[in-house]
Amino acid sequence: MSEQLEPVGVIGVGWVGLVTAACFAELGHQVIARDIVPEKVEALSRGEITIHEPGLEELLQRNAERIAFTTEMDELLAGARLLFVCVDTPPTYSGDADLSRVRAVVEELREDGDHVLIMKSTVPAGTGESIRRDKPNLSYVSCPEFLKEGTAVKDFMHPDRVVIGADPGDEGAAEAVEALYKPLGGEILRADVASAEMIKLASNAFLATKISFINEIANVCEEVGADVGQVAEGMGLDERIGPKFLKAGIGWGGSCFGKDTIALKKLAGNSGYHFQLLSAVIDVNELQKRRVVQKLKKHLDSLAGRRVALLGLAFKPDTDDMRDAASLVLAARLEGEGAEVVAYDPVAAERAATLLDSVEMATSAMEALEGADAAVLVTEWPEFAELDWVAAAERMARPVLVDGRNFLDPQKLVKAGFEYEGIGRTALDAPRTASAS
Ligand SMILES: NC(=O)c1ccc[n+]([C@@H]2O[C@H](COP(=O)([O-])OP(=O)(O)OC[C@H]3O[C@@H](n4cnc5c(N)ncnc54)[C@H](O)[C@@H]3O)[C@@H](O)[C@H]2O)c1
Repeated sequence: MSEQLEPVGVIGVGWVGLVTAACFAELGHQVIARDIVPEKVEALSRGEITIHEPGLEELLQRNAERIAFTTEMDELLAGARLLFVCVDTPPTYSGDADLSRVRAVVEELREDGDHVLIMKSTVPAGTGESIRRDKPNLSYVSCPEFLKEGTAVKDFMHPDRVVIGADPGDEGAAEAVEALYKPLGGEILRADVASAEMIKLASNAFLATKISFINEIANVCEEVGADVGQVAEGMGLDERIGPKFLKAGIGWGGSCFGKDTIALKKLAGNSGYHFQLLSAVIDVNELQKRRVVQKLKKHLDSLAGRRVALLGLAFKPDTDDMRDAASLVLAARLEGEGAEVVAYDPVAAERAATLLDSVEMATSAMEALEGADAAVLVTEWPEFAELDWVAAAERMARPVLVDGRNFLDPQKLVKAGFEYEGIGRTALDAPRTASAS
């Protein structure tokens, strides 16, 4: 069966590229994946996984025979016609997306009328058009990626939708991409390239808006004595609103929301339009992380000389990705207030240690809490719900806890002896189950 399937090329094997490579191999395709970091290619070729992503290691092992990793573009071009570009597009100093890695890839491609460049990297609307201008004989398809770290394999294999953007002249290429995704069964939406590019940016901006919105509602709830969990549940039952992404907390993070919302704001600005709503969405997120410091001060007065434990460092559970994690801002702010910061994360500690060199890394939650004057739950790792909070309260110098994800049962924590602070709820509020993200 695999002989009849079209081979797939992947350029850039980070979170998106590695998942793309593993999943197409799982579907029976021969995959050739290229990265410019030799150590990464060598590790992957030896069967060592480079990121923490549930289910990915098994998938790579099971399909090892079908995936080849290389640093050589020529090998990739010889091995596959359909080339997924999955390189990173971080922000530049101006906040615009840095397309230098995308450009480097395009430079290396031959306009042989055969290869199809399929853009999975998140790029500003207009990128496809400018690549087409530079390489008029290259077939170009926009195929933005919507996977979520932590559930990336499942998201890839069971997509809500697959967006395929192509302009007139590239219908054949778009058909070929559609054929790759057909077996997955998600809705396939065909669009023009600029619209496909905008769908990705608008989707991330909308999700970020939903989170900032519920965070502002949470802050108002704190003023008026309402419980944001109950409010979100009541809102989410309205089918026009829906329950997802209405989970109040200390703000979004990760590799995409921050850079993509800013990139969209800049894209709008560069075109002469001031995207006011998005500016507020970004500001709210920044302030939300900083509110933790005020919450701690409410209990401890000054933070100078206090030992504060961060529970969780990754930007969300089930990943070791530290890009734009709330913990980075929090650690810096706490240290700025004179606190001593100790932290624990079950999988991200190693990656985090390279970014947070003044933070003491503990090997367990209990070790982090030992002698601490306060704790902040930053990432909702399931093991924190299972922790013996009575023992934790006894081991802390002062059992103050800011539950940055409204993850724990406030009543249980109070009973264990904690001074509990949630986001938009009081210690007396019962936990709610409705919100999801
Ligand atoms: N991570 C996510 O959850 C996610 C989800 C949807 C979309 N995206 C988008 O997908 C893109 C990739 O994101 P990521 O998180 O996988 O990034 P990443 O940083 O994890 O991986 C990018 C990889 O590309 C490699 N690379 C850079 N230049 C290269 C080149 N010229 N040739 C070959 N390889 C090269 C890098 O070495 C790295 O391994 C970004 O545009 C991102 O916005 C990411």
